[in-house]
Amino acid sequence: MTAVIPVYEPYIGEEEVEAVAAAVRRGEISGSFGDSIPAFERRFADYVGARHGVAVTSGTTALQLAVAAAGIGAGDEVLVSASTNVATALAAFHNGAVPVPVDSEEETWNLDLNLVEGLITERTRAIIPVHLFGHPVDMDRLRAIAARHDLVVIEDCAESHGATVRGRTTGALGDMGCFSFYANKIITTGEGGMVTTNDDALAERLRLLRNLAFQRPRFLHEHAGHNFRMTGYQAAMGLVQLERIDFILEQKRRVAHAYDRLLAEVSGITTPVERDWARNVYWMYGIVVDEDFPLSRDELAAHLAERAIDTRTFFCPMNLQPFLRRREGFRDVPCPVAERLWERGMYIPCGIDLPDTTLAEIVDHIRAAAGVPT
Ligand SMILES: Cc1ncc(COP(=O)(O)O)c(C=O)c1O
Repeated sequence: MTAVIPVYEPYIGEEEVEAVAAAVRRGEISGSFGDSIPAFERRFADYVGARHGVAVTSGTTALQLAVAAAGIGAGDEVLVSASTNVATALAAFHNGAVPVPVDSEEETWNLDLNLVEGLITERTRAIIPVHLFGHPVDMDRLRAIAARHDLVVIEDCAESHGATVRGRTTGALGDMGCFSFYANKIITTGEGGMVTTNDDALAERLRLLRNLAFQRPRFLHEHAGHNFRMTGYQAAMGLVQLERIDFILEQKRRVAHAYDRLLAEVSGITTPVERDWARNVYWMYGIVVDEDFPLSRDELAAHLAERAIDTRTFFCPMNLQPFLRRREGFRDVPCPVAERLWERGMYIPCGIDLPDTTLAEIVDHIRAAAGVPT
């Protein structure tokens, strides 16, 4: 049987294995002991260009903690990108706030900044822009809008490690940035996440709420906290991964640019953009199967699956999520662009070890599916 080409494979070497084993031997098994967690927080925050990093258990809990640290809760509304992983909306939901989806732009697939002001009400407290698939949101424009309406800005950087806006790295461009180190992310600790911030008071609150809000005396709790602590051995792995990040990003861009060239000749397939002010890190290489392509997105995915090529659809937008639609106070905001992306978008294999010949073969199969001779 032919081995399936997966959409992505983590890049992990012996150094990670050794670093994790050494951390375990040093007793860094919980989230409370050892040097690896503070070292990983320091180095990751430096990489991002933020003053503080607070390591947590996942991107999901990073977002949930950030919303909690901002003091957002019942009665509040939080604007979120419509096209995203459900974790973005859950961050508001699990804090008792109502997420409000913002439809996508046609080209970057990120939230459409032209729609934001029309969705703001007196309840709106925050906005969570997602740098989708590694293309950053224009944070200069977004911050100007947020400042006019006094909104907290929480960047969802789960897919954007190293992406930049006019030379500045995502994660330091709002009040807080939330990263994921899940297995398929640009760097990984298996599961894991980090909140970055330049705000000393927010950093202190994030650390407090991450650790069950322990204060003095130890078992008397003024605040309702969480246990979102990353383990020491995960942080040890993160430190090694961080040393590889430039190489990983270089390879991500190689894969993306090879696909860009190869797919430029295939009509009916839209490929990712990179705005002139942005550095796209191409976490995943997304394509949109347009109406003039002879096959639907699902037919093309089936055609590729038969040839052992793995694909994934884009996200189901937040305006269509049943659990949100049932939520009291949820606003039925139309998101036609995000819905079209959900119907027609998919990402194709972009593991960084895929040679250009494999990428060419994948595109040949797409071309053949369209009936174009290869
Ligand atoms: C945009 C986005 N936000 C949040 C998350 C949640 O991260 P995690 O899986 O680490 O909880 C993910 C991915 O998984 C994501 O892609």
